[in-house]
Amino acid sequence: MENRSVTINYEDYGSREELDAADRALLDAAIEAVSGSYAPYSHFNVGAAVRLADGTVVKGANQENAAYPSGLCAERTAMFSAGALHPGVAMEALAVVCSREGALTPNPGSPCGACRQVMAQYEREAGKPMRIILGSGGHVWAFNGVESLMPFIFNDL
Ligand code: THU
Repeated sequence: MENRSVTINYEDYGSREELDAADRALLDAAIEAVSGSYAPYSHFNVGAAVRLADGTVVKGANQENAAYPSGLCAERTAMFSAGALHPGVAMEALAVVCSREGALTPNPGSPCGACRQVMAQYEREAGKPMRIILGSGGHVWAFNGVESLMPFIFNDL
């Protein structure tokens, strides 16, 4: 038996201003997307934006339902929308922000496991790492590849 460990690398930016122009624009799209959140139960608003290989940006926001499990996270809303509207166009990057009572959360929110699984599939389709940008009212974290967020992800190959 051997003990092994996994190291996760990510970039920690002090604020959105430190990002390059493309990442900042995607983060801003995620912030705009919060306005589409429908969260009458949790009052937790999440916005997401996917950047495609051709530069198109597709936004999504969490959508809740009285039958709770029927709701969907912002990340999957954005990715499924991108997949449906732009089939076959690679998803290069995804930005996410969370908001409560009209203010971005003080720390980056981290995507749920189901959303990470969906990211992994589109990343595999794209054939290159998806950049994941998690914003907040302060720091911004960026991960190059879903494996950095979710090691040992399920993969049916
Ligand atoms: N939510 C997201 O949109 N993304 C996540 O990664 C985690 C949670 C949503 C689901 C629900 O509408 C609300 O946040 C509270 O869980």
